[in-house]
Amino acid sequence: MKSHIEVQHIEKSKIDSVDFNNLPFGTVFSDHMLECDYKDGKWQTPVIKPYSQICLDPSAKIFHYGQSIFEGMKAYKDTKDNTLLFRPLDNCKRLNKSAERLVIPQIPEELFMDGLKKLLEVDNAWVPTNEGSSLYIRPFMFASGNGFHASPANEYKFMICTAPSGAYFAGKVKVLIEEKYARAANGGVGFAKAGGNYAAQFYPTQLAIEKGYNQIIWTDDNTHEYIEEAGAMNIFIRINDTLITSPTSDRILDGITRKSIIQIAQDMNINVEVRKVTVSEVITAAQSGSLKEMFGTGTAAVISPIAGFGYQNTDYDLPELEETFAATLKKAITDIQTNKVEDPYGWRVFL
Ligand code: PLP
Ligand code: COI
Repeated sequence: MKSHIEVQHIEKSKIDSVDFNNLPFGTVFSDHMLECDYKDGKWQTPVIKPYSQICLDPSAKIFHYGQSIFEGMKAYKDTKDNTLLFRPLDNCKRLNKSAERLVIPQIPEELFMDGLKKLLEVDNAWVPTNEGSSLYIRPFMFASGNGFHASPANEYKFMICTAPSGAYFAGKVKVLIEEKYARAANGGVGFAKAGGNYAAQFYPTQLAIEKGYNQIIWTDDNTHEYIEEAGAMNIFIRINDTLITSPTSDRILDGITRKSIIQIAQDMNINVEVRKVTVSEVITAAQSGSLKEMFGTGTAAVISPIAGFGYQNTDYDLPELEETFAATLKKAITDIQTNKVEDPYGWRVFL
């Protein structure tokens, strides 16, 4: 049975004021948003309404205790004007995994999918058609219930906002391997897309930016010897012709792009190793010339090649290769996402 969704249409669309040939990332918002309240122990009727400010009590627990989680996904258009999503149920399942950890109520899959599809139907004109652009979708849930008691709220909001967006990074990124700070710890919330994980990254990332880097490569909190993630991306390291990525854990987000890239690479007969990788292995490979590529993967960034990295006051440049795994795999995944090739995995979902 389809969820009942109330729709309040905008009086006049803002779409004519948007330059679709020059889209920033995540700052131009589509006409509508979805809002659904959880109160009295249940989800209320979801409402699609004009994108607008929301009103919260100053004691809402989101402000004080950070009970807040989100997802990142994208909608694409193919050449026949079909709208497609990529593995959307995986985002819903991950949102619920994050919700469980943050004691936020589970969102029913039907409500998530029906609400998302309806919102995309209403704002279909906002899904960009130009190469490299897409409609970035941000589902999120947070504690709207109030009170200063440090305990879970009794009211929540589930919302979805969308933003036609261009590239997340302008070009290759230069990263710093972190030796002091950590983004996550065993038993913590690193595996969840909790807002606080990102807030905690801002300070060390700001220090890295001041030193001339764009992003941090996070290492394990205990020894700082193992490579874990790159900012808001999972990380892949190519040594000779083998692609290595860390296993996911309590501390590492189970990235949907990551698991898709592992599958695609294996099916292209690229040797993929999912195993722990030490900083010293990467440094040794960089020194011997066997380190060929490093790249980050994520919904926002897709595949972001790394130009070089810093570690213990030394910079290491990566070689400029003519043919890279990063470019080949980026084309393979975006061709599936935009319906240019067959989808042997059943990852695409049409609106
Ligand atoms: N790691 C972190 C910390 C992230 O924020 C993201 C972004 O979503 C990813 C990895 C990549 O995950 P996905 O490929 O599902 O977008
Ligand atoms: C995404 O890749 O969708 C993310 O959630 C990263 C985000 C922090 C911009």
